[in-house]
Amino acid sequence: MKKIALVGCGRISKRHIEAIKETPGVEIALVCDIIEERAKKTAAELNVPYVTDYRDIKGVDIVSVLTPSGNHPEHVAEIAESTDIPYIVCEKPLSLTVREAHEVFSRVDKAGKILLPVYQNRYNPLVIMLKELIDSGKLGKLHQFICNVIWNRNDAYFDIDWHGTRSLDGGVLYTQASHYVDMVHYFFGELVSAKGQGGLLRGLEVYDSVSSVMRFKSGVVGSLNATVSAYEKNYETEFTLIAEKGIIRLAGTNLNTIRHWNVENMEKPDMDFTLDHVYGRGHNTMYEFIAKEKWDEFPSREDILSGVHLMEKLSY
Ligand SMILES: NC(=O)c1ccc[n+]([C@@H]2O[C@H](COP(=O)([O-])OP(=O)(O)OC[C@H]3O[C@@H](n4cnc5c(N)ncnc54)[C@H](O)[C@@H]3O)[C@@H](O)[C@H]2O)c1
Repeated sequence: MKKIALVGCGRISKRHIEAIKETPGVEIALVCDIIEERAKKTAAELNVPYVTDYRDIKGVDIVSVLTPSGNHPEHVAEIAESTDIPYIVCEKPLSLTVREAHEVFSRVDKAGKILLPVYQNRYNPLVIMLKELIDSGKLGKLHQFICNVIWNRNDAYFDIDWHGTRSLDGGVLYTQASHYVDMVHYFFGELVSAKGQGGLLRGLEVYDSVSSVMRFKSGVVGSLNATVSAYEKNYETEFTLIAEKGIIRLAGTNLNTIRHWNVENMEKPDMDFTLDHVYGRGHNTMYEFIAKEKWDEFPSREDILSGVHLMEKLSY
C-alpha cells in the first residue's frame, strides 16, 4: 500500500481524496495545510494526522502538492530537499515560467527525488483515442487545428485570495486552459513559433482571454482561444482537427463528445461519455499508475519543459 501525503487542503484536494479512496493500492496517510483549521478539518474527516509545515512530513511514499500554482516550484523543491519522500506529485501547472521549471527539476534531481506532474486530461478517453489516431498516421498529413475553451469564472471567483494574480495564478491559459495548451503540445510536438494576444478585460493582473496562433515542426498550424468571460456559465471546449484523410471535432464542457467525425475508412467510435465530475476522472488514472508503480506513464522531463515553453510563448 502506497502512503500519500496531501499538501494543500483546498478545492482540488477534494478530487485527490476521492480519487485516492477509489484506487486500490494507495491511501492518504497525512495532510498538510499552512492554514491549521483547514489541515485539522481535512485530517479529522480522513482520520489521519496533520502538519502545517511540509518539512515535517515523514513516513509516506508520495507527496501531492496541491498549493496555489505560482508556489509549485518552491514547494516541490523544498519538499524534495527537506524530506525523505521519494516521489512528488505536482498539480498543474508545474510552474509559471520556463526558468522556474528548469530550476525545480534541477533541485529535485540534486535531492535524488522524482517529480510527477499532473496531466490528467491526457487520460481523457477521447484524447487517448485521438492521440493514437494521430500517431498511427491514418489521418495522413495533419493540416490545422482549432481549439476553443469558452468558460466562465464570475467576479466572486476572482475575489478569492490568489486567483487572478500574476505571481500565483498566471491567467486563463495557466489556470483554466492549461490542459488544452498541454493537449496541443502532446498531439503536435515540437514548436516552431507561437504568439498569443491577451485581453485584460476583467481588470485582473493577468489575461482573462487569450487568442493565440502557433506552428509546429511537423508543419501543423493552429489556433487556441481561451476565455473565462463567457456569459453566465461555462459554455464548452471544442477541438477541431483538419487532416488529409479526415476531419474530427471533439466538444463538450471537457471534450467528452465527438461532435463531428468524417475519417477515411473509419466509422465514428461510440465513445461519448458523461462527466460525473467537473475535473473529469483523470486523477484516478494517475493514482492507478502510482499504485502500480508505472512511473513511465508520466510525461518525460523534455515533454514537460517544452510544454512550459509553449505556455510561456502564448502568455507573454
Ligand atoms: N488538475 C485540475 O484539473 C485542477 C483543477 C483545479 C485546481 N488545480 C490546481 O490545484 C492547485 C490548487 O488549487 P485550489 O483551487 O485547490 O486552490 P485553493 O486555494 O483552494 O487551495 C490551496 C491550498 O494550499 C494551501 N497552502 C498554501 N501554501 C501552503 C503551504 N506553504 N503549505 C501547505 N499548504 C499551503 C492553502 O492554504 C490552500 O488551502 C492550483 O495550482 C490549481 O491550478 C488543478
